[in-house]
Amino acid sequence: MTLRIFAVLMTMLVANAPVAWAQAAQEAPARRPDVIYVPTPEEVVEAMLQVANVTKNDIVYDLGCGDGRIPVTAAKKYGARGIGIDIDPQRIKEANENVAKNNVGDRVKIIQGDLFEQNLSEATVVTLYLLPSLNVKLMPKLMKELKPGTRVVSHAFDMGDWKPEKEMDVNGRKVYFWTIPKQ
Ligand SMILES: C[S@@+](CC[C@H](N)C(=O)[O-])C[C@H]1O[C@@H](n2cnc3c(N)ncnc32)[C@H](O)[C@@H]1O
Repeated sequence: MTLRIFAVLMTMLVANAPVAWAQAAQEAPARRPDVIYVPTPEEVVEAMLQVANVTKNDIVYDLGCGDGRIPVTAAKKYGARGIGIDIDPQRIKEANENVAKNNVGDRVKIIQGDLFEQNLSEATVVTLYLLPSLNVKLMPKLMKELKPGTRVVSHAFDMGDWKPEKEMDVNGRKVYFWTIPKQ
């Protein structure tokens, strides 16, 4: 390799470095997810939306939305608006594909970010499939930001001392339901 070719190659490498860096930064989560991705089975998604009595008047927030199946089903089957939030860019990509595949882009928005840093105040229904410790950590934020009457549904995990109004078994999986009380 002549010195001239070497110089050209080095220039190209340096010139493209910011682009490659920006791409890598976009694809990596801002920080490690608090819980790994495990999707909620469709029949449990249905049960969660039904126990919350979701209608077209609702705004359903799924905190840690994975492939977006909960907001997508809320929009497609119940006519609700849906917001899915996830910290993992791979999940965001899958959720956006799911939204497009189901033609609910006019009613579902997918947001990449940390669920603990999002403003949840417009939600009328919040769905969770996180961990017991994360539910407990999240509870003060739910109490502070959500309007009284907002429904909260969790797959698999309860919320410490906050006793659920309903507790269901769906094919061996637990679903818990609460309503945000008057402050
Ligand atoms: C167990 S999965 C549940 C997925 C979906 N809600 C469902 O029920 O099918 C948990 C999701 O939370 C996401 N997650 C973990 N920590 C997060 C955080 N701090 N902010 C936003 N999303 C987070 C993960 O990337 C993962 O997709």
